[in-house]
Amino acid sequence: MQKLSASMKSSGAVEICKRLGEMSGGKVLDVGTSEGSFIKTLMKILRDYDSFIGIDISEEDLEKARSKFNDEPVEFIGMNAEKMTFDDNSFDTVCISFSIHHLEKPNKVLDEMQRVLKPGGHLIIQEMFCDDDQNEAKQTETLVHHWDAKVDSIRGVPHFETLSREQLRELVRSMKFSSIEDFESQRYVKCLFCEDMEKCGDSKNKDIIEFALREIDEILERIIDHPRFKELSQEAELLKKRVKSIGTEPASFLFFICK
Ligand SMILES: C[S@@+](CC[C@H](N)C(=O)[O-])C[C@H]1O[C@@H](n2cnc3c(N)ncnc32)[C@H](O)[C@@H]1O
Repeated sequence: MQKLSASMKSSGAVEICKRLGEMSGGKVLDVGTSEGSFIKTLMKILRDYDSFIGIDISEEDLEKARSKFNDEPVEFIGMNAEKMTFDDNSFDTVCISFSIHHLEKPNKVLDEMQRVLKPGGHLIIQEMFCDDDQNEAKQTETLVHHWDAKVDSIRGVPHFETLSREQLRELVRSMKFSSIEDFESQRYVKCLFCEDMEKCGDSKNKDIIEFALREIDEILERIIDHPRFKELSQEAELLKKRVKSIGTEPASFLFFICK
């Protein structure tokens, strides 16, 4: 890990990293793994682990994930998390990272995650929240994210607005675990290991702004032939104006370790 700035130190990410560093992952399942980014992070942080399986419904994302790992003990499988093909009590650790707001049936997926978790195992949930007590730049990202969800929804891809802290806590409480550790962080845990750590925390950084503007254009391209293109492109222009004037920063998130 590199030398940390005061804002990184106080973000909450270090506490999460320390706690994960005390844990043995055993056999780990990552649900909605996309390109396997959370698996990469866990491999760096967990005290030890045996193996990882990442599942996702997007074959395109899984192909990218496979290309990002070499000799590590990891397998990526195309599978709908609403109906997993794993036996009961198969995994020591089951995780879901930044994917809850992509699920059509979150309760069904969480039930499945509990079913495949061994008794006494850990269930980890990482998810951003939308509460507006975050700084303006973080609220920019939430607004862009909610617009992105709207674009995906009109093209038939499940994607919903992110939940509030309280809605997330309620969802986690509904699973009735005997112990729930609840962390909040302003910065991603993976940032602790990234060369661009400080740049990503600077909401007015030129590269970050350009990246965000490019991302909005790329999202809009997905619906170029859709009848609602004009309406969504007007919203995109307002968002781009906000990105340029206020800046953008990743929304804060909650991190739960349940047992
Ligand atoms: C934002 S991405 C995940 C990001 C990744 N976990 C990370 O931490 O960087 C959300 C993923 O959830 C996947 N997804 C949505 N519904 C799913 C389902 N029912 N079963 C499995 N994966 C699903 C999507 O295909 C998408 O790749």
